[in-house]
Amino acid sequence: MKQHTIRLHPLGKEILVNDQTPLIDSLHEYGIEFPCGGNGTCGKCRVRLLDGNIPLSESHRRKLEQFQLTPDWRLACMSRCTESVTLQADQFEHLILADESDFDFLPEIGYGVAVDLGTTTLVAQLVDLRSGKIFAVETLLNPQVRFGADLISRIQAGLNGHATEMTEMIRSAIGQMIERMIKECERIPDKVVLVGNTVMQRIFSGLDLTPLSCYPFQVENSGIVTYSTSMLNWCFEVSKSIQFYPSIGSFVGSDILAGIAATGLHRNEKYTALIDLGTNGEIVVGNRDRIICASTAAGPAFEGSCLSVGMRAVTGAISSLRLVENKMVSSVIGNVAPKGICGSALIDAVAILRKQEKIGLFGEILSGEEEIHLIGNIRLTQRDLYEFLLAKAAIAAGIILLASQLSIDPSEISETYIAGGFGNYLHTEHLLSTGMVETTPEKLHKMGNTALIGAKMFLFGNGELAAEILAKTNHINLEGCPEFQDVYISKMMLS
Ligand code: FES
Repeated sequence: MKQHTIRLHPLGKEILVNDQTPLIDSLHEYGIEFPCGGNGTCGKCRVRLLDGNIPLSESHRRKLEQFQLTPDWRLACMSRCTESVTLQADQFEHLILADESDFDFLPEIGYGVAVDLGTTTLVAQLVDLRSGKIFAVETLLNPQVRFGADLISRIQAGLNGHATEMTEMIRSAIGQMIERMIKECERIPDKVVLVGNTVMQRIFSGLDLTPLSCYPFQVENSGIVTYSTSMLNWCFEVSKSIQFYPSIGSFVGSDILAGIAATGLHRNEKYTALIDLGTNGEIVVGNRDRIICASTAAGPAFEGSCLSVGMRAVTGAISSLRLVENKMVSSVIGNVAPKGICGSALIDAVAILRKQEKIGLFGEILSGEEEIHLIGNIRLTQRDLYEFLLAKAAIAAGIILLASQLSIDPSEISETYIAGGFGNYLHTEHLLSTGMVETTPEKLHKMGNTALIGAKMFLFGNGELAAEILAKTNHINLEGCPEFQDVYISKMMLS
């Protein structure tokens, strides 16, 4: 069959593909995201033709016009390769957060692999169970990104007949990551522990996604699920077990279960909160006696998907903003020209604009205009600020409601941990000044990849740690709390 070369600039990658290969099939491996899952509705999979041609259908041409793109652009999800081309693909570098922090364990003989199966990224570490030492790390973009960036797109893709494909894809990707670590270290793992959100867990397990697609969003808890290498088509040995840890609730997965283990909140006498501002905006509050958790609707704003200039924390995203001599100064991932802002910079922007008295208590632009300038050609619209307020209120109300379930005042929460890569860029003083989390700087901690830390802790023993946490943890549906509306609305204002 005829083959063509796709050169990706400035990544310097060359891909050999068969004639008529859809670009979506070859480019997702290189970090190019397909946020709407290739439906042609988001325009974010755009690539620029620097050399060669990709034929344009009439509908594709109309899409380019709709997204105000000149004729040298293409939507990768609508393109097939019919000749060798050079494409500009400069926005696609992801932050993938591994972990080197210390954690508590009782030494065992052998080796284990901990896997954090994220919606966007995959991280695996090979650990010496005697010393806790990390022998190897593998990171990868979740290959399912070709079916969309967020959980809703993945659920939709599953319901549209791609479920088996996504299951095979993720099992194979993780298998290859582990295989590479085995080759690199020449050590055979005794155990593999996987954690992830509920959607990722169900896709990995080959379970029906329908319950997560409609009210009451209820999924059965199947406990720890054990696999053999042959079930997963992995061609290496794992002498003891391969286990996917259980979700806590419909949209609170084993990544949060692992996060609880990582913070140690289940053994603290004092109350502790864990907040993950990623995909589902999960919140946990509890102590050694009782733990309550919930998911909120905060995710899309902090992942940038519902903002006019929002984007994930990838190359070209403004990751943080500071005020220097009353001028906004930005940090951009990859040191390139800014293309949009990610969640951490959104928090900075709101805090700074409020300090400068450019926006009011309710996020209203005080000049009366519809947009407010941030930096370069990046602006926030009134709608963006409103989306922030909704997300901020969801988190703030969530903490209050979880505390109320525990019959405590939120002020009794002694420490608050922020999980995930998001925290890396976060200016805690800005987060606090928005009123999203009501605590003091000394009590607010950025904790990195708590899912991976917890997965490593689960490698030790035989599931006792997870069982201990699950026995005292309850999941609640925040919207089902009678006082939800009142608390939520009361938090829809800035400090
Ligand atoms: S337009 Fe959304 S993925 Fe192509």
